[in-house]
Amino acid sequence: MAVGIFDSGLGGLTVLDAVQKRLPDVPFVYFGDNAHAPYGVRDADDVYNLTTKSVERMWEAGCDLVILACNTASAAALRRMQESWIPRDKRVLGVFVPLIEALTERKWGDNSPPREVAVKHVALFATPATVASRAFQRELAFRAIGVDVEAQACGGVVDAIEDGDLILAEALVRSHVDALKRKMPHPDAAILGCTHYPLMQEQFQDALGADVTVFSQANLVASSLADYLDRHPEMRGPGSESLYLTTGNPSKVSNSATQFLRRKIEFQAA
Ligand code: DGL
Repeated sequence: MAVGIFDSGLGGLTVLDAVQKRLPDVPFVYFGDNAHAPYGVRDADDVYNLTTKSVERMWEAGCDLVILACNTASAAALRRMQESWIPRDKRVLGVFVPLIEALTERKWGDNSPPREVAVKHVALFATPATVASRAFQRELAFRAIGVDVEAQACGGVVDAIEDGDLILAEALVRSHVDALKRKMPHPDAAILGCTHYPLMQEQFQDALGADVTVFSQANLVASSLADYLDRHPEMRGPGSESLYLTTGNPSKVSNSATQFLRRKIEFQAA
């Protein structure tokens, strides 16, 4: 019984960490497509092709359920995958919906009509591809009315994190927050709509100010997965071992992962 966690690179580790803490008995297969990161500057076809290839490898590793812990893949590829690609006995879930349910104060699967919610001015920080897809605004419109969303495409942040250049990543975070604030001076909530960004959460919070509530996905996805597995225990799949796979350089990726999670993580070639 293994569940797959997919990301273009290191960002999904923020989700992996939260799900491992929440579900310590479930083995997880993590797949980082580091050789092809960042996805956020690719077009939708490219993201679809890379994501489906990676997910196929996770089926082989014993996963029947894969979480796309990557907003870019969730925004640019998931719907197409669900419509025509995923085999009947497999599932692929994204990371958008748990976040939007939290923002709009909804329980899982509450499909009642959109209504007014507490937050009115929301800043969305995401990759250029996620911003271009408008998937966040679309999912939000199903659930809430009267919410003003200003999106900031945060070019460069994922590259800097993947390269381990956290000084550059911090400088870019500050300049993207400044750019957002010129468009929306007083957001009441901010969404970190890329799984890499929680690695920079303190810097986002600091640049935004203490009065802005920052929503980040890891714990929301963990609760949502625990709930899903309670209802669908058969989706845990046949795999029985945790595995860390990368298309990049395993020793370099292992070092970065160990640094981010502050525990030893060993990747092997996918
Ligand atoms: N961490 C991913 C996301 O949530 C992808 C970032 C990228 O590869 O550009 O969007």
